[in-house]
Amino acid sequence: MKLLLSILFIALCLSIAKASVPDVSNSYLGAGDPGVSHFPSYLGLKMHIRCYANVTTANQNGPIALFDAGLPFFSTAWVSIIPSVLQNMPAWNISKACFMDRYGYGWSDVSPIPVITQDYVMRLHGSLAVAGLTGKYILVGWSWGSIFVQTFSLTYPKEVVGILTVDGTDSKWGLIPSNQQAVLVYTDVMRGYINMNNMGTLEPLARSGLVYSYYGWLPNELVSSGYTPCSLNASQEVLLDTTNKFLKTALQEYNIMVISSALLNFTYAIKGPNPLKDLPYVNVYSSYDTDPEWTTRQTFMASLSSNSLAVQFTTGHFFVFHNPTAIVSGLTALTNKIATNPAQQWGQGNGFFYN
Ligand SMILES: *[C@@H]1O[C@H](CO)[C@@H](O)[C@H](O)[C@H]1NC(C)=O
Ligand SMILES: *[C@@H]1O[C@H](CO)[C@@H](O)[C@H](O)[C@H]1NC(C)=O
Ligand SMILES: *[C@@H]1O[C@H](CO)[C@@H](O)[C@H](O)[C@H]1NC(C)=O
Ligand SMILES: *[C@@H]1O[C@H](CO)[C@@H](O)[C@H](O)[C@H]1NC(C)=O
Repeated sequence: MKLLLSILFIALCLSIAKASVPDVSNSYLGAGDPGVSHFPSYLGLKMHIRCYANVTTANQNGPIALFDAGLPFFSTAWVSIIPSVLQNMPAWNISKACFMDRYGYGWSDVSPIPVITQDYVMRLHGSLAVAGLTGKYILVGWSWGSIFVQTFSLTYPKEVVGILTVDGTDSKWGLIPSNQQAVLVYTDVMRGYINMNNMGTLEPLARSGLVYSYYGWLPNELVSSGYTPCSLNASQEVLLDTTNKFLKTALQEYNIMVISSALLNFTYAIKGPNPLKDLPYVNVYSSYDTDPEWTTRQTFMASLSSNSLAVQFTTGHFFVFHNPTAIVSGLTALTNKIATNPAQQWGQGNGFFYN
């Protein structure tokens, strides 16, 4: 029986490498997964974008929702909400929901050099065009993904109709000395993990629960939070990849956190008050007893648009693990806003200084 079960598990999770692109169909929802993977190549690098659709007459012309995960996470971090997203897409008037792997994570190509968020946004925009995923966008970012949401909006304002940030990183974050110090700590820890992975000791450490979630490990216990066994297996395989591509990508990203956040801050500063104008914006965030400043900065971030709603929880940072329902209700609130109170001023110009 045990043998039979493990054969079944292997058969269910097996992915067969085809031609030049990997088969990732078993890395998300499991059997019957309706997702489609795109691998657009743009400026020399292939990006993996995983899309889901549930098309009816109600949402056939609706915007595309783009989801960007925290650091160091990628598309599989969103597995806990994908079934609810599929269920609600017609009601939300979202035609597609697409989950990105930033370069070096998941099944995207590794970049030889760190890619600042401003560059990533330009490359994602080009990659979406190559993949034929064009139209209006709703942007969703968890944690670091929130820097992406804001930077993409300021760069391509005409294409963005609404944004959701989930306990997102804000534009003051990189200018705070303790955060700059924290990046050095993350970097040291990640260097240690690379050494351990080379010696084969990282996996047992992670299995014993000693690799904190901040470092990208999705533990098996998450099956009780809506993750499929195959999605956890695939995420763990990516993290433990013996070329260390995941771990080295995390190092690259720590490297660009301060500069990407600071550039976003400068871009906002040039634009003056109300830089997001009346862009529909929902900010779902957590309060922390130990850091009241986080709440202050989250409310400030929401105030960058005059058409925003900030909703506070006590979830902690890992909404995708512990409170996927809050993300789903955030999307309901946002799509409601877009339907009933869309932007009038936002998106009239051509980007950067003219949004
Ligand atoms: C993923 O599943 C395969 C097949 O069961 C197994 O051989 C492999 O060790 C698993 N990987 C991890 C990281 O658990
Ligand atoms: C869905 O969104 C599209 C694009 O914004 C819009 O043209 C259409 O009217 C919307 N459909 C509904 C049912 O609201
Ligand atoms: C697609 O949306 C409809 C609601 O309009 C829902 O009943 C159905 O279950 C959804 N399909 C999936 C695969 O979730
Ligand atoms: C940019 O950073 C400065 C210095 O920390 C801060 O006073 C300002 O409010 C920030 N602006 C934004 C939009 O983050």
